[in-house]
Amino acid sequence: MSDQPLILGIETSCDETGVGLVRGTTLLANAVASSVDEHVRFGGVVPEVASRAHLEAMVPTLHRALAEAGAGLGDVDAVAVTAGPGLAGALMVGVSAAKALAVALDKPLYGVNHLVGHVAAEQLENGPLAEPVVALLVSGGHTEILLVEDIATSATLLGQTLDDAAGEAFDKVARLIGLKYPGGPNIQRAAADGDPGAIRFPRGLTGQRDLERHRYDFSFSGLKTAVARWVETAEREGRAVPVGDVAAGFQEAVADVLTRKAVLACQERGISTMVLAGGVAANARLRELTRSRCAAAGIELRQPRFSLCTDNGAMIAALGAAVVERDLPPSSLDFASDSSLPVTQVLVG
Ligand code: KG4
Ligand code: ZN
Repeated sequence: MSDQPLILGIETSCDETGVGLVRGTTLLANAVASSVDEHVRFGGVVPEVASRAHLEAMVPTLHRALAEAGAGLGDVDAVAVTAGPGLAGALMVGVSAAKALAVALDKPLYGVNHLVGHVAAEQLENGPLAEPVVALLVSGGHTEILLVEDIATSATLLGQTLDDAAGEAFDKVARLIGLKYPGGPNIQRAAADGDPGAIRFPRGLTGQRDLERHRYDFSFSGLKTAVARWVETAEREGRAVPVGDVAAGFQEAVADVLTRKAVLACQERGISTMVLAGGVAANARLRELTRSRCAAAGIELRQPRFSLCTDNGAMIAALGAAVVERDLPPSSLDFASDSSLPVTQVLVG
């Protein structure tokens, strides 16, 4: 293990400042500072607030990661950083820090794709992936089905949300039924007291016609509107809103459509391994449904622990390690972060 290079990974694409240290597929440190509390009163991530928080958290988080790994900056062999996609200003903080470190340490720099990083994180949990794999990424910022042919070089976007991300839908629906941000954990808690079959909410893009055009895509705006209408009607008629039933019905609709399409992608592409990641992967019902549907379809489900599912620097270090292992050329020192970096670009030039 110790003969593998020590990779430092930096992640600042959204509201988590992450610094991780990895050798190969061995996790040595995963320090994260989240600015989530600063966004609570706005009901969602405010980009400028997130950027400022990254600036303040970067150096302390780097020190925490080094201490956790029992390493010094001089031990670092290469620096990897999220080049995109993500919030433009937030990405810039991480990329600037990574460039400064690479220059100061005279070590190679790798600007890598955040989405593929989520998949690479799984290797820190259960060892090397046998590609190709299908990944279902679900968080406040993304809802995608990826086909990863080779973690260091090749990924394809099979489908994505046409409107809200799944986590965003959880956050917005939580607000509609009087629950606090972040909505995911609060909806899950409320749903525990509800009946998932009491109200049947729509499953977006699952009709025959939609499946032809948007086979692996998602849409949550219709679902969100359906919840809003349901709550409005109940209030107009002077009925108490059964928060538990609404939460459970909504959660069931999201979990159903996410897992159905991800399993379909595996079956139609002949892929036998699925990776589930992103903050929404913490959802117990989503996990349970994914597990049972994968088992029924003979698909192996791989899922990292929660701290590796949400945005973190270790996942970026893990992807950096895969890139270094293939001897791919480092990024040039003048590469720019790209808020809409396509998933096909695993490593920037
Ligand atoms: O990956 P993540 O920590 O951050 C970014 O999106 O950048 O994901 C956060 C999202 C939030 O929208 C939150 O509501 C959702 O993940 N989430 C959950 C659960 N825990 C967090 N959604 C559903 N069920 C949960 N238990
Ligand atoms: Zn992410």
